[in-house]
Amino acid sequence: MATGQKLMRAIRVFEFGGPEVLKLQSDVAVPVPKDHQVLIKVQACGVNPVDTYIRSGTHSIKPPLPYTPGFDVAGIIEAVGESVSAFKKGDRVFTTRTISGGYAEYALAADHTVYTLPEKLDFKQGAAIGIPYFTAYRALLHSACVKPGESVLVHGASGGVGIAACQIARAYGLKVLGTASTEEGQKIVLQNGAHKVFNHKEANYIDKIKKSVGEKGVDVIIEMLANVNLSNDLNLLSRGGRVIVVGSRGAIEINPRDTMTKESSIKGVTLFSSTKEEFQQFAAALQAGMEIGWLKPVIGHQYLLEKATQAHENIIHSSGAIGKMILLLK
Ligand SMILES: NC(=O)c1ccc[n+]([C@@H]2O[C@H](COP(=O)([O-])OP(=O)(O)OC[C@H]3O[C@@H](n4cnc5c(N)ncnc54)[C@H](OP(=O)(O)O)[C@@H]3O)[C@@H](O)[C@H]2O)c1
Repeated sequence: MATGQKLMRAIRVFEFGGPEVLKLQSDVAVPVPKDHQVLIKVQACGVNPVDTYIRSGTHSIKPPLPYTPGFDVAGIIEAVGESVSAFKKGDRVFTTRTISGGYAEYALAADHTVYTLPEKLDFKQGAAIGIPYFTAYRALLHSACVKPGESVLVHGASGGVGIAACQIARAYGLKVLGTASTEEGQKIVLQNGAHKVFNHKEANYIDKIKKSVGEKGVDVIIEMLANVNLSNDLNLLSRGGRVIVVGSRGAIEINPRDTMTKESSIKGVTLFSSTKEEFQQFAAALQAGMEIGWLKPVIGHQYLLEKATQAHENIIHSSGAIGKMILLLK
């Protein structure tokens, strides 16, 4: 408990474990920004699957305990450090990373991870940009080096990264196929850039995709669940095709021969391998998308801060994504 300092509500994790280790505290000290830091009054925070991996203690990112989860906040600048010139109190912003954690009323962030939130997007949408859009952009443009006119299958298109990938791919002139397991999810995928949608829970959906893309196959697959789909993906690819592994939650057996005749490749992607310069480049492209209007985050399930445990439970044992899951701070 801090004294003589402004206090806030925040989720704190005191030990790694299941969703139940997320504890709502109301006496957490509001951090004070120094140097190149800004303090943001958080309005909404994205819930990303990686938050659950970190919370469980099994991820390569293992913060010292106790910590507050959450990377992608949107809110209003409350105060700035003495070296900050790009932002001032009252500015609307979103982040790709926080220092003190986003599941809180206030979050500290380094100024180079903070971006202006255009007026046409609300705070919920702002909280849906960080990890999802920057990952989708890196996977498509940086890892797959997609070219206009190529085809892309967004394998798992109804969630945060998937919808972002569909919007970006369509804006860059690709032929976009997506998958989702619910009717509502499929509808959203079609409304957000996909030319065609398939149901990854349907027994024969791979045959349907094969029929749709014909002999040539699909040029790029952005894969959200590689441990289930990688073997099928290799068979769906075109000559020189690439599978970009964005998500995987276990092991899978593949036949390496499936990569030989088509000289196809499998490449993994990690957003946090991006350099500061790459983040700035991705941000410039995404900012243009917000200005022009093709970048429009779709908000799915929403939870109040006190329901963070439920959100962590549901993002892993999902009954069907319908956009980006977020936490609301009020
Ligand atoms: N590498 C990185 O840097 C990076 C960055 C961000 C995210 N990720 C990973 O990427 C994955 C997606 O993240 P997200 O934020 O989009 O999560 P999300 O919002 O929870 O969405 C999960 C997506 O996976 C789909 N899915 C479920 N079963 C599937 C199956 N059998 N085949 C294909 N897709 C399936 C879901 O579709 P339905 O709900 O419609 O079934 C939904 O579209 C997660 O594993 C996450 O950890 C990695």
